[in-house]
Amino acid sequence: MAETLRIAIQKSGRLSEKSLEMIKNCGIKFGSDARVLKEAATNFPLEFLYVRDDDIPAYIRDGIADVGIVGRNEYDEQAIDLTVLRDLGFAKCRLSIAVPHAFPYKGLSSLQGKRIATSYPNILGNILKEQGIQASFVQVSGSVEITPAVGVADAICDLVSTGATLAMNGLSEVESIYKSSAVMIGRKDMGSDEKSQILDRLMLRLDAVMRASNYKYIMFNLPEEHLDQVAHIIGGMKSPTVTPLLEKGWVSVQTVVAEDTFWDDFEQLKELGAQGILVTPIEKMTE
Ligand code: PRP
Ligand code: ZN
Repeated sequence: MAETLRIAIQKSGRLSEKSLEMIKNCGIKFGSDARVLKEAATNFPLEFLYVRDDDIPAYIRDGIADVGIVGRNEYDEQAIDLTVLRDLGFAKCRLSIAVPHAFPYKGLSSLQGKRIATSYPNILGNILKEQGIQASFVQVSGSVEITPAVGVADAICDLVSTGATLAMNGLSEVESIYKSSAVMIGRKDMGSDEKSQILDRLMLRLDAVMRASNYKYIMFNLPEEHLDQVAHIIGGMKSPTVTPLLEKGWVSVQTVVAEDTFWDDFEQLKELGAQGILVTPIEKMTE
């Protein structure tokens, strides 16, 4: 039987939707029905396992899945011998200390001798150790936010994204100690050449999708005399495509610009007299 690559994706939560969207953008077709635990893509040798994000590193280590998408927090916390294949950048969140409103928090030293509930004893432990702070950990795998109210912890250390969970539970976020976003992880050794080849194909597509999301396609009309200056502003992939317009002395320019410098480029183009600037997202882009 031909090999398939197994990817573990969070069943529901912060990472799920974006993870699936990214794979869909790679042209891979599948149902993404949240009720199933496992399904196969119809046009690519890829199988999906929908599981709790916290379990993904262990699934990969044990060979149940080959690769997976998790928050870097899970990868760092579990310190299992895996490798980060790609930094995906989405699902940004932070690991923060939160306390009941009445807690007089004045910095990490306020945690000396306190009970802290967390699912991240390793990440938190290392940070407190660096500061010479001793605290006891109440290790919980879910509903961390409830522990101060029921009297089992004085403070918590948990992931915060929008902050809604903390607010709902009457806790104040007092210090962010670690930042996280999605990463694709995998075993260092895929175990078979065929699997490695499938992974390479997937990565090629993923890179094209990620690169595309960092760029915009831009078209505009420009007085021809400013063409030289424009070339300095926007490098483009190789060089911009320039076509003459019917109106004498004007050209139409098409090129690719990086998302992070987009607004600077845009302002400079306006100053050079660019008109009718049209900007569109790019779906896929190779080098
Ligand atoms: C984290 C964390 C909080 C929630 C915070 O859970 O444990 O419950 O997200 O998000 P908010 O600030 O937007 O309210 P995670 O996504 O890891 O899910 P899990 O606890 O089910 O693993
Ligand atoms: Zn989780």
